[in-house]
Amino acid sequence: MICSPSFLSSDFNILKEEILSISKARWLHFDVMDGKFVENKTYDYKLISEVKTYSNQFFDVHLMIEKPEEYLTEYIKAGADLITFHLEATDKPLELIKIIKEHNVLAGISIKPNTSVNELDSLLPYLDLVLVMSVEPGKGGQKFIPESVDRILYLDRLKREFKYKYLIEVDGGININTAKTVRLAGCDVIVVGSYLFNQANRNELIEALENV
Ligand code: DX5
Ligand code: ZN
Repeated sequence: MICSPSFLSSDFNILKEEILSISKARWLHFDVMDGKFVENKTYDYKLISEVKTYSNQFFDVHLMIEKPEEYLTEYIKAGADLITFHLEATDKPLELIKIIKEHNVLAGISIKPNTSVNELDSLLPYLDLVLVMSVEPGKGGQKFIPESVDRILYLDRLKREFKYKYLIEVDGGININTAKTVRLAGCDVIVVGSYLFNQANRNELIEALENV
């Protein structure tokens, strides 16, 4: 599996050091929150441009924002390699997927725990990634929702049945135990926040998580 660290739970006063402390990670997960789609507000594309000056990792940008269509070009210009928006935040998902891909950026879609995974069916042929939220979006440090496993199994089954190419990413409450659970269900990428940033031996932990 690929580990995509979320630095939401890191110390933003020493952000550059925090990000350099996970140099082993090939991906870097950005949790963009606008205070409207979710109650918290974090940062926006300006931080992504800043981190781009000292990180050459794959920028996995998770937009927890309303009206993502209004901001796509800012995130593309800031250096996103993958842009994931929420199905619940727009009424024109297919249009957004096409715009993102036209700019040679990978397109992902995310669903909240209470959104039925079947709502994604018609979009699956066009997606590079599906992000299964295994916690309610909005903050780090929450507990993994066990029902998420059924959604991963469903997406893995459809992927095999129809030869779709999307990656399955899981986000929220991931630790060394839940990482193994989601891998067995078909997960390709794990987002890890508090579990990683609450410990010192981060690069070793990334290695262990990717090979669980
Ligand atoms: C929650 C974010 C997640 C979160 C993961 O809204 O999308 O990426 O930061 O943090 P942990 O791993 O602590 O659950
Ligand atoms: Zn996230």
